[in-house]
Amino acid sequence: MKNLRSIEEVSNEEIYTILKRAGEFEEGAPSQLEKDYLVANLFFEPSTRTKTSFETAERKVGATVIPFEAGFSSTLKGETLYDTVKTLEMIGMDAVVIRHKTDAYYDELLEGINVAVINAGDGAGQHPSQCLLDLFTIFKEFGKFEGVNVTIVGDVSHSRVAKSDAEALTRLGANVRILCPSEWQGDFENTYQDWEELLETSDVVMLLRVQHERDAAFEGFTKEGYHEQFGLTVERERRMKKDAIIMHPAPINRGVEIDSSLVECERSRIFNQVRNGVFIRMAIVESILKERKG
Ligand code: CP
Repeated sequence: MKNLRSIEEVSNEEIYTILKRAGEFEEGAPSQLEKDYLVANLFFEPSTRTKTSFETAERKVGATVIPFEAGFSSTLKGETLYDTVKTLEMIGMDAVVIRHKTDAYYDELLEGINVAVINAGDGAGQHPSQCLLDLFTIFKEFGKFEGVNVTIVGDVSHSRVAKSDAEALTRLGANVRILCPSEWQGDFENTYQDWEELLETSDVVMLLRVQHERDAAFEGFTKEGYHEQFGLTVERERRMKKDAIIMHPAPINRGVEIDSSLVECERSRIFNQVRNGVFIRMAIVESILKERKG
């Protein structure tokens, strides 16, 4: 891979290669990078997991992380994203990891930019590294994707995780079902509006965060009402299949998407996902930097 912009650009073969490499990193394999590479993380939207995880992964594979604070950068003086990235390229970056509120912000970087671009989330568009760590989490659990029933629950219209995960999981053979209020179904078709057919047949229940910052609430929306109709309650968790798992990209709205007592229950993989994210991002960064300089 030269860049990682959208999961749609990543072939099934490349996905399996990244999952395998992440597994090797988890087992303690050393980095294959032999040169010193410079990487900067440009986060124009808040992040705890993705930013820290990428920084950790970059350091673990031996890259040098150059600090960049979006809130103190010249973007505040009106500098464009293109000019910001080009400037960092000229300073000597090999790769930039970018999170930005604009959908497909990377389109403006396709021409004239030679630094590698890794998308850490674009608006309501894509979140490919989250998708890969979700795939890694599911593959570790079931050893396959074919026939695995994955129920994605929540605001799929605003969710870059839902879009990335649904596309990749479907392509890899999983059965993806979407459960959401009709106001939030966006471009997804054949969505479900209640748990009935889904709860006892799901191998994976993937809950999505209610995105208050994107004005997601519709008329009549309340946190209590959402939890009652679409949330994973203790009663619903009890009806899940024996080996089914719970996932959530986080951050979590406790008591909204999921009962707080379930966040670290036996079948929850929510914090495992965070841990898996470091190995996946090591695999992504190593792959892209190796490609860059052979
Ligand atoms: N899952 C995720 O993208 O979390 P952050 O916003 O904390 O990076």
